[in-house]
Amino acid sequence: MNLILLGPPGAGKGTQADIISKKHRIVQLSTGEMLRQAVKAGTETGRKAKELIEAGKLVPDEVVVGIVAERIEEPDCANGFILDGFPRTLPQAAALEKLLDEKGKTLDVVIELKVDDEAMVERITGRYSCASCGMGYHDRHKKPKTPGVCDECGNKGFMRRADDNEETVRARLLAYYRSTAPLIGYYFAKDRYSSVDGMADIDEVAEQIEKLLV
Ligand code: AP5
Ligand code: MG
Repeated sequence: MNLILLGPPGAGKGTQADIISKKHRIVQLSTGEMLRQAVKAGTETGRKAKELIEAGKLVPDEVVVGIVAERIEEPDCANGFILDGFPRTLPQAAALEKLLDEKGKTLDVVIELKVDDEAMVERITGRYSCASCGMGYHDRHKKPKTPGVCDECGNKGFMRRADDNEETVRARLLAYYRSTAPLIGYYFAKDRYSSVDGMADIDEVAEQIEKLLV
């Protein structure tokens, strides 16, 4: 099963991709996460991406397409993958189609998480993650079961993303509406589009998605 999660910053793509990936044993491919790792590792891609990410702008298509093309070749993707944050432009969608065709793979479904933009600012400014395993949390909506201790790995250190501030979130929303929202019509025309109410509770959103997968 190969699917795309579509939605503005904070819509819950990463949260839901993590749930689906554990339940269905398929790989979560987050281009944002891959780029942040490249920034951390100080690679050439990371150096090119750092400023753009921190300004809330999109990284050039050829950079992200290259990363995804390499990643989906790896054996763990044979069972399927969840694309979280890719494609984000029409040229990226066309490149993905070509890649999948070449590998004899198909795209099963594109799921939009429909949300209210103003709530996204609150979701993003309250977000943090485990500094060790990357598990995501939120100051109000998703706290660790034991305060200050990661549920997943027991680590006690947490971090916030450099682009998770109100000003950058608004720039990211603008990039979404300018470049990514047209993908909704694109996938609707290709008969791959579905949507869920991304404003519902995390578990409820996961249930709605599950119904689209079986
Ligand atoms: P990326 O990392 O993809 O960021 P984004 O699209 O801005 O999305 P987020 O990760 O902020 O949100 P999310 O939808 O994953 O929400 P989450 O589940 O964490 O990209 C970052 C940057 O990298 C881009 O700006 C760009 O520069 C670059 N980039 C990446 N891909 C690219 C591409 N393809 N092309 C070009 N550039 C690219 O949830 C948010 C918070 O809300 C969490 O705290 C969570 O706990 C909470 N939450 C989630 N669901 C709910 C719910 N239902 N109710 C209440 N709270 C919830
Ligand atoms: Mg994310």
